[in-house]
Amino acid sequence: MAGLDAILNDIDTDLDNALERLFAFLGIPSISTDPAYAGQCREAAAWLAADLTALGFATSVEETSLHPVVLAHKPKPGAPHVLFYGHYDVQPVDPLDLWTHPPFEPRLANDGGRKRIVARGASDDKGQVMTFVEACRAHLAMSGELPCGVTILIEGAEESGSQGLPEWVAANRDRLGCDVVLVCDTGMWDPRTPQITSSLRGLCYFEVKVTCADRDLHSGFFGGAARNPIHVLSRIVADLHDADGRVTVPGFYEGVHERPAEVIAQWRGLGMTAESLLGPIGLKEPAGEKGRLPLELVQSRPACDVNGIWGGYTAEGTKTVIASTASAKVSFRLVDDQDPAALATSFEAFVRERVPADCSVEIVTYKGSRAISLPFDMPELATAKAALEAEWGVPAVTVGAGGSIPIVGDFKRLLGKDTLLIGFGLDDDRIHSPNEKYDLTSFHKGTRSWARILAALGERG
Ligand code: BES
Ligand code: MN
Ligand code: MN
Repeated sequence: MAGLDAILNDIDTDLDNALERLFAFLGIPSISTDPAYAGQCREAAAWLAADLTALGFATSVEETSLHPVVLAHKPKPGAPHVLFYGHYDVQPVDPLDLWTHPPFEPRLANDGGRKRIVARGASDDKGQVMTFVEACRAHLAMSGELPCGVTILIEGAEESGSQGLPEWVAANRDRLGCDVVLVCDTGMWDPRTPQITSSLRGLCYFEVKVTCADRDLHSGFFGGAARNPIHVLSRIVADLHDADGRVTVPGFYEGVHERPAEVIAQWRGLGMTAESLLGPIGLKEPAGEKGRLPLELVQSRPACDVNGIWGGYTAEGTKTVIASTASAKVSFRLVDDQDPAALATSFEAFVRERVPADCSVEIVTYKGSRAISLPFDMPELATAKAALEAEWGVPAVTVGAGGSIPIVGDFKRLLGKDTLLIGFGLDDDRIHSPNEKYDLTSFHKGTRSWARILAALGERG
């Protein structure tokens, strides 16, 4: 087995080739939420499978009810075994005109001395997935073997709520045996400080469509007498929060726990302010619950957001119309023990109560996920922390994140395994937005970090 220095050195000298491989992966528009790109999702899976096969993994591309997963095995009898999860699918690119370059023509940009990989999926999650793959490549190139047994599971529907994946995991439990799950799909505390993410929020997503009259109406003939569905929907949306920013859906805060005062004090000490969180996006004043730290608002408190709203005439000029229907997409971020099923029942009643008797409402409930939190006493956590500190020179912060990765809860439920969430994304990566980027440092030092973590986990065995 080659020394770690040789492996890290190989990562440094191979960086240009690693970038070339990542660019090939980023060039495939694997947008999972748009059926028109199903073929490209398949292409991304095939690209990854070919790369892992070349590394000597026993690799297969397997069907799910949505896009295929890539599964790759390299067992090592007697050594610890890790299951690495990530996703090859990406978010849609709209609004396309805000991209300065085509989203699937990856390039290296020089941004005030900082080199950045710019493309859809650069940070979420293709760049992050490749940090792990490149770490494996370096170990294999230098030693001919990996320090641990490794199974790699890369799905293609994470941005579609991991549709089909829990069923696939349940059916393939015996092929996913491991000591610990590793996920690279989260961020760092700041560009210098690595992070092990200790919790993720859950998600509950609804579409609400209010119908009033059975056709669009002339607002001169009917205005003042006919009910306007946009008004009905606006009232529902406005009622979701009270004047203190709390969500008003009955029972919403059941299962939400307060953090101990010393934890809040520690979080205050981390120095995230309204200015540091909101300044970079052009805002000043925190919205949402009053009297909470910004870090609490985006991490340990639940939230409700309208993600889209439409109805009536929105094109150029004027049209004097009362629409027949109005629609909105409404989502809730969940924490602690909040139950998506209970929320669905309560939200539906909340909406129906606000729809007049002669109007109607359709509510579509998407599959929800619970929040997850990870035990602080996992032995692998201490190992990973030490490895991260060796790479970055400062201790890793252990803190929660506000986003969701639905399958992590299923890994616990179906495999009985906890997950180590270690990612190298930065707050300004613009994931899901135009001009998404991944710092070259994230990619390079992320790869080195995984090489160290794998080595350290292997030594534990
Ligand atoms: N990688 C993100 C989640 C994330 C980002 C967690 C940063 C922590 C820090 C993931 O790809 C994502 O976008 N998840 C979706 C959920 C999904 C059901 C569409 C989300 O959080 O909105
Ligand atoms: Mn992601
Ligand atoms: Mn995402």
